Amino acid sequence: MHNAGLRVLGLDWRYLAFDVHPENLREALNGARAMKFIGLNLTVPHKVIAMDLVDELDESARVWGAVNTVLFEAQESSGKWKPMRESDGDGATIRARGFNTDAEAISRAIEEDLGIQLKGAAVLLLGAGGAGRTAALKLADSGVKELYLVNRTRSKAEEIAGEIHKRSPGVVVNVDYPGKNVDLVVNATSLGLQAEDALPFDSQRFSLKKAGCAYDMIYRPAETSFLKEAARNGCKITNGLGMLLYQGAKALELWTGQPAPLEVMRTALREHIYGATSHHSN
Ligand code: ATR
Repeated sequence: MHNAGLRVLGLDWRYLAFDVHPENLREALNGARAMKFIGLNLTVPHKVIAMDLVDELDESARVWGAVNTVLFEAQESSGKWKPMRESDGDGATIRARGFNTDAEAISRAIEEDLGIQLKGAAVLLLGAGGAGRTAALKLADSGVKELYLVNRTRSKAEEIAGEIHKRSPGVVVNVDYPGKNVDLVVNATSLGLQAEDALPFDSQRFSLKKAGCAYDMIYRPAETSFLKEAARNGCKITNGLGMLLYQGAKALELWTGQPAPLEVMRTALREHIYGATSHHSN
């Protein structure tokens, strides 16, 4: 999606993947700086490790405790920092500035792709791992009214509930299934990645008939059993491709300083993940 986006922006840049062991992350970042990279993305487990390795943390990285996007900046003689796209970097001090574009992508994907408003909504969130925690905090931050947190390991959901009490005291958090209807159910567990996986919730305790919309953070397969079951029960459904797209679009905007060509990136992403002939609604 990045290379497709760069192409239509007319930039002679390339987005490449490098396999780096966590022990070598510091060296890899220094290497990218020395080679005058514009920026880069990091994925698990590097996102948290990079918090201590970048020279400057943007507010977004500080709030979410993880860096998924780095922008390299060169220092002008006036002392001001400017992005590497505007500098030849020669003789300049170059710093790595860490951002988080993941969290914002969660709420954007839910709101834009499902066409709902999170503010005031009642939401059941399944899963309290890395993705679940960020989703829970971001949902709370987006002004949901009620949040129901369910996780196989209950203590992890309780821990997140405690964090939300501190960060977003206006949100009513329950570590349980809802007894009433909810606007949205989000799957943030890894259940559904494998075809034989069970549903990510206990169907004795909750029915998707009680939900208006269902969002699965999983995007491969395009339609998990959770989404199929949700559609059968009349929910509006979307998979997690939008999250991947929006975090990438924001990163491209940081690097290029231009609006991301979203539809070009979406098409490239779909083709790459589902194959050129697919016609998915996500
Ligand atoms: P991620 O970074 O994708 O969030 P993770 O941190 O390993 O990955 O979290 C995986 C999530 O899926 C957790 O909520 C996990 O539940 P636990 O906290 O109890 O481990 C959930 N999960 C994984 N396998 C599961 C299973 N077989 N049944 C129920 N939940 C499962």
